Amino acid sequence: MRKKIIVANWKLNSNIKNISIFLKNLKLNISSYLKYNTVVIAPSTIYLERVYKKINNLNVFLGAQDVNLNKKGAFTGETSILMLKDVGVKYVIVGHSERRLFHNESNELIAKKFSLIKNSYLIPILCVGESKDEKRRNQTKEIIKNQLNTIFELLGEKAFINSIIAYEPIWAIGTGLSADPVYVESINKFIKDYINHYSSNNLEEIIVQYGGSINSKNAQSFLQKPNIDGLLVGSASLDYKEFLEIIKISNDILCK
Ligand code: 13P
Repeated sequence: MRKKIIVANWKLNSNIKNISIFLKNLKLNISSYLKYNTVVIAPSTIYLERVYKKINNLNVFLGAQDVNLNKKGAFTGETSILMLKDVGVKYVIVGHSERRLFHNESNELIAKKFSLIKNSYLIPILCVGESKDEKRRNQTKEIIKNQLNTIFELLGEKAFINSIIAYEPIWAIGTGLSADPVYVESINKFIKDYINHYSSNNLEEIIVQYGGSINSKNAQSFLQKPNIDGLLVGSASLDYKEFLEIIKISNDILCK
């Protein structure tokens, strides 16, 4: 198995004091767990630079939670891709279900953001996944296909080279009810097969993570699966003990 990628999505959480405690403990403990892991931390925009200064020499990477489509200008309250690059961001989460829901982000807008991120030589982490109703109606694969298709239409068959996909079923986010790892393995395999089918070349390197109510108790059951290439962790990533434990579990699996 190749390296797993573990991403902390802090969403609209934390503060200077807690970030300082988190990063101090990360620094003390993380070095031995990075052999088989790529670790990314995505704090709120206002803390990006602060986090970057502390993780830069630890081999841990900085992620952003969103980006505006415009590179500069009169767009009050927004953050551009140039600003993200300027403060050390390497990965950008795009299409998270919370942005689709609370900011009405469409597949078309998300595809444009995805393209902007790639054209700026950063790595997009594209979130895809179905709602509870869509799952009940057996529409999961259709929903994911649509989410991927708009990106293929804009960027062509090589769209998903140097990018990451995170399968995050909406019903599993923040509910404490993670999906069944066997189910996730089958959906992640479906995503890889679909991308390979769409692109004529065999994209061995497609990376598909899982996200939704991950914690140190359930992480192992997901990380053991061959087509779950990492985790996008929400609330458990705010607690340094939990997050470090998840990274350790991932490292231990791949050490064996
Ligand atoms: P939780 O881990 O809090 O369910 O959040 C998952 C998520 O949305 C990560 O992007």
